[in-house]
Amino acid sequence: MPIETTKNIWHNGQLIPWEKANIHMMSHVVHYGSSVFEGIRCYTQPGSAAIFRLAEHMQRLIHSAKIYRMPLPYSLEQLNAAVVDVVEANGVAPCYIRPIAFRGYGEMGVNPLRSPIEVYVANFPWGKYMPGNNGADVCVSSWNRLAPNTMPTLAKAGANYMNSQLIRMEAEVNGFTEGIGLDTNGYLSEGSGENLFIVRGGTLYTSPLANSVLNGITRDSILVLARQLGIPVVEQALPREMLYICDEAFFSGTAAEVTHLRSVDRILVGDGTMGPITKALHEAFFNIVNGLVEDRYNWLTPVSVREAATV
Ligand SMILES: Cc1ncc(COP(=O)(O)O)c(C=O)c1O
Repeated sequence: MPIETTKNIWHNGQLIPWEKANIHMMSHVVHYGSSVFEGIRCYTQPGSAAIFRLAEHMQRLIHSAKIYRMPLPYSLEQLNAAVVDVVEANGVAPCYIRPIAFRGYGEMGVNPLRSPIEVYVANFPWGKYMPGNNGADVCVSSWNRLAPNTMPTLAKAGANYMNSQLIRMEAEVNGFTEGIGLDTNGYLSEGSGENLFIVRGGTLYTSPLANSVLNGITRDSILVLARQLGIPVVEQALPREMLYICDEAFFSGTAAEVTHLRSVDRILVGDGTMGPITKALHEAFFNIVNGLVEDRYNWLTPVSVREAATV
């Protein structure tokens, strides 16, 4: 789906026209993948719009940058304000928000430290990431996720997504919606752009951060909601075959939201429909983002989108 453009993009403290947000091909990031970024959703609620877990996303951006010795010249509060500014200036909700920091035009060579840090925030309309409502048919990828002593997966870095691209392309070429990567020890890790949950015997399982996963903000939200619903939660290393004998499985992520898995490697998950625990978590999640229940965790940052034009 081509990107639907908006009017403004925030760049280093200023709103600039969408079409002026260009970089030079000799920028460090183009050659060496030196970027960290976020993906955030802004949802509409009856008569209003709000960004989901803005501060947590921007804190993760700051942490991703810190891992890569990329000191961002903006505080958390300034970055949060930048996101609100661009969403309000563009007047588009619901939308997807893409903050990114990268090493720009400076010097050539692997060492990024003498290339300037550029920060941008764009937003644009974006609908469902996983097609359909009947669940995703996924495969276990032949590609592993990043080994922990190679690329840090707690940094949401652009370069990590070369691995994600291999997983995703392989899955789609073979007729699946998405691929699940194992870590380099063969344990379940995550999808190319989603965290993974499994339900077995009434307990909710997910891989811990040590299994090469991104510390997903939706993952964290699901863990909070599960505990609140009284669902037992276990974070532990999970063998691949749990996917074949579980009762339910689902992905969580800003893009994928909560998407149940219908099958893995052509083996049905349960009876292929969304199971009761997934359903309860799906409902709890969407009730909050859609403003149907009280925002008891303060996850929503209201934005005033004048044209409240839902897309
Ligand atoms: C590799 C990967 N894992 C997990 C996630 C889910 O993270 P979040 O819920 O913060 O969007 C994402 C999406 O950002 C991702 O790219």
